[in-house]
Amino acid sequence: MSNINLLREPVEEKINDLLSQMTKEEKIGQTNQLHAFGEPEKEAVRQGQVGSILNATSAFAGIGASPSASAEICNAIQRVAFAESRLKIPLLFGRDVIHGYRTVFPIPLGQAASWNPELVELAAAVAASEASADGIKWTFAPMVDIARDPRWGRVAEGSGEDPYLASTMSAAAVRGFQGTDMSAAHKIVACAKHYVGYGGAEGGRDYESAEISMRTLRDIYLPSFRAAVDAGVGTLMAAFHDINGVPMSAHRQLLTDVLRLEWGFKGFVVSDWASIEELVNHGVARHRADAAALALFAGVDMDMVSGTYIENLGSMLEQGHLSPEILDEAVRRILRIKFLAGLFEHPYTDPRRAATAMLTKENRHAACLLAQQSIVLLKNEVSILPLENHFRRIAILGPHAHSRGELFGTWSPDGRPEETISIAEAVKEAAPQGVELIFAESSDEAIRRIKEVDLAVLVLGEHPIRSGENSNVSDLSLPPGQRQFLEALVAQGIPVVLIVLAGRPLAIPEEIRLSKAVLYAWHPGTEGGRALADILFGYANPSGKLPVTMPRATGQVPIYYNHKNSGRPIGWQDFAFRYVDLPHGPLLPFGYGLSYTTFQYNNLAVSAIASSGPYDISAEVTNTGTRSGSEVVQLYLRDLVASVTRPVKELKGFQRVALKPGETKRVTFTLKPSDLTFTGMNDLPLLEPGEFHFWVGPNSTEGLQGRFELEF
Ligand code: NOJ
Repeated sequence: MSNINLLREPVEEKINDLLSQMTKEEKIGQTNQLHAFGEPEKEAVRQGQVGSILNATSAFAGIGASPSASAEICNAIQRVAFAESRLKIPLLFGRDVIHGYRTVFPIPLGQAASWNPELVELAAAVAASEASADGIKWTFAPMVDIARDPRWGRVAEGSGEDPYLASTMSAAAVRGFQGTDMSAAHKIVACAKHYVGYGGAEGGRDYESAEISMRTLRDIYLPSFRAAVDAGVGTLMAAFHDINGVPMSAHRQLLTDVLRLEWGFKGFVVSDWASIEELVNHGVARHRADAAALALFAGVDMDMVSGTYIENLGSMLEQGHLSPEILDEAVRRILRIKFLAGLFEHPYTDPRRAATAMLTKENRHAACLLAQQSIVLLKNEVSILPLENHFRRIAILGPHAHSRGELFGTWSPDGRPEETISIAEAVKEAAPQGVELIFAESSDEAIRRIKEVDLAVLVLGEHPIRSGENSNVSDLSLPPGQRQFLEALVAQGIPVVLIVLAGRPLAIPEEIRLSKAVLYAWHPGTEGGRALADILFGYANPSGKLPVTMPRATGQVPIYYNHKNSGRPIGWQDFAFRYVDLPHGPLLPFGYGLSYTTFQYNNLAVSAIASSGPYDISAEVTNTGTRSGSEVVQLYLRDLVASVTRPVKELKGFQRVALKPGETKRVTFTLKPSDLTFTGMNDLPLLEPGEFHFWVGPNSTEGLQGRFELEF
């Protein structure tokens, strides 16, 4: 991967020139982010004490709707910075534009389930064009944390459990937000977060400590951030938690040695909300002043809203607790991004753009496509789906059948429920002529009327506030009462097509067993209802694949496909790691997802393997059914013997291929030596000779298997 360099000669000259004119107070001002637009804040801006404004009323402002910015409001305060402050340094306006803006796209976990980086890039580009029309030039996305424990609510915000899939989506989102030139009017600066290991929180409890070895950090948690850096991401956010005993906001080894010195990151790092002052709670700083010095020294360049820097950096410098060069470097990084974002040349937003930029037909279309591709068909007994002409009287039931805003998912402060339609409304729009639809407001009414129907579409699942920041669960079942609804329908002999809305993989073995078909829809966004209706009636063919392992029970987590073999794996004599009260393995594996057609894999081939690489692995995939469809072809690898234990499988490539009935395509993956490299005993990258097994297939447990020997 080539590292897109953020260093541009003319920009560096301009930064040096500006820095040489700045007072210490003005420099500290650049490191300070506020989160309000009132008169006192205007005065602080005028005095050069503010570098950025976060358009949010609280750390949780994104969970549920919160007032959007507007070009007029941003321009008014920008005018104070640009026209009235001494050095005329423009402000950078930030907001959580996480999975869309006015057009809400599926939650990032759903986007990852599409395994379609082109569409994920497009979603970010749409979000950038809408948000920038309201004056926002910086988003706190993509969230690229690996999550192996779905009790953690923030699993919804990332790409799931796998470093390769997450890295691909991370780079795609950065490209979408920033484009090749983040100064363009419709582009915004991206922020890869939450650096790093935040998903490793103990017990899936947000903000809790993580203990992650350097090897696991390097092989599992760091690659998605590296991918963002290599794609040219402008900023990173340090996570709230502590890792191996060091809070991330004070983690110089990871923020400076790895990120800056090893990877060459030239953008800036922002704290997460008040995480700098929280260093006192962590017990590594005696007071806020200590916390400020620790964080700046570690490599946190901007203080998100805690006020710790603006209050304390001056005195910490005076007392010699910090060297002025460290402050200069932080300011240099912030100014670099402001220059690259074009703020000095175009500080204002054209207020007319907002009238035409939002929720365009194209934007809705992109959201619908991504929603369709994010939906995973988990079961389709006797090909009950699509519901073509064999069911005349269909009931649409369940607590989320009429939901609108609830389709958006966590972090959709700018989505408007009145601009979307519910699943029930979408089904009404899409149902073929002659199909009678029956709606019931309550489960009692549903049960009473159920005798009249041939089939029920039941929409169950999680309300969005059950996932996202600090919304962890101790139980991965459906919310109370929902399974009983399904059981009551099944007891009446009604075939049920189950739609599950969720911010995480839920443990629903019984629900899947009882239903004839199951569509796992995550929180699918503005066009989610339409996407589901299209899939129900066969106008679209499902092609999503799980970006996370689906557990059988909460007690199984963390459970992930790329685990180690252990000394006593399944099948090893009578011993094996197991639960005495549960069958072995997940309910459904990582990468799993069905289609309305079927695919067959044949004729695996591998090129001659030389230590210098590259190695080509290919297989033929045929659509053996009667409908056109897309298959996500996946390549997994296993390094059989190495100097440290290696995962039983690792995803190393995937491709989405569209196939007409009867059509065959050969899918080729090219592996490079770096794809076989891992972190060795001394925490350095290592490529070792020996035997490798590989699989090309439809998910992480099936596929054609081959082997090769790497010799040198
Ligand atoms: C706290 C969250 O952890 C982070 O993801 C978000 O970007 C900031 N608040 C800003 O709202």
